[in-house]
Amino acid sequence: MAVLASGRGTNLEALLEAFPPGNPWGEVVLVLSDNPEAYALRRAGSRGVEALAIPWRGRRAFEGEALALLQARRIDLVLLAGFMRLLSPGFVEAWYGRLLNIHPSLLPDYPGLNVHRRVLMAGEKETGSTVHFVDQGMDTGPIVLQGRVPILPGDTPEALERRVLFLEHRLYPQAVRLVLLGLAFPPPEEGELAPWFRALSPRQRPLYLRAYALLKAWGQEAMALGAFQGQGGEWGRGAFLAAHLLAEEHPALRRELATLPEEVRLRVEKTLARVESSP
Ligand code: GRF
Repeated sequence: MAVLASGRGTNLEALLEAFPPGNPWGEVVLVLSDNPEAYALRRAGSRGVEALAIPWRGRRAFEGEALALLQARRIDLVLLAGFMRLLSPGFVEAWYGRLLNIHPSLLPDYPGLNVHRRVLMAGEKETGSTVHFVDQGMDTGPIVLQGRVPILPGDTPEALERRVLFLEHRLYPQAVRLVLLGLAFPPPEEGELAPWFRALSPRQRPLYLRAYALLKAWGQEAMALGAFQGQGGEWGRGAFLAAHLLAEEHPALRRELATLPEEVRLRVEKTLARVESSP
């Protein structure tokens, strides 16, 4: 994996920690920055990970150099972590499904900059962060995972930023694990499920996608349509319970696993354990 970062790189640090060199699931082997001063480069360097600045001389030049490096290092997945430039449609298209970003809001709400200030001004009661596949828009693209945090009385933009960052440092590695395991991908654009995915709201879609990916991984893909219609039987229930638990721990749902028939329960528990036991 390669990480692109423009600034201090706390998310990069979390990714380096979760996917160090030699990690059998996936390793971060390259860090690129458009900003030679980025602290992110120092973080990578001090862990012995290749870190290169490609000083910004326009998008074309940057992307040309970056693409050559991504190819040379045989990168499979590119992670944007506080990367402050917009990538061209051509770049995004070439990497669609293999290019992730993290954004400090509950997308599709509050795309863009100065998120925490805007969230506070609007009087929101909660906020969070979103990991999503990058598409042609700014902070659009299919959502992989979202995490939430409450907004508390007296919160400032700085306090909120800190709280959301703590959340992000767990959320981003978890989202990457799901992608690496084939449990997160952009919604299918064709086939009988495509209209179902299109009809869901952007916030609901990731849960259904995870449930679909789980059924696929368990050889139960044929149950997916029924499960979406609430008629997926015990496999459908298991898939939605697991899909939920992969995004967020929930004591009631965790206990409910015990009520699944054994065959389904074992598959669910094995899958959850596999994600949780990541090396
Ligand atoms: C994070 O809040 C991330 O969501 C956003 O930029 C910030 C980067 O912080 N895209 P850091 O450089 O990882 O500390």
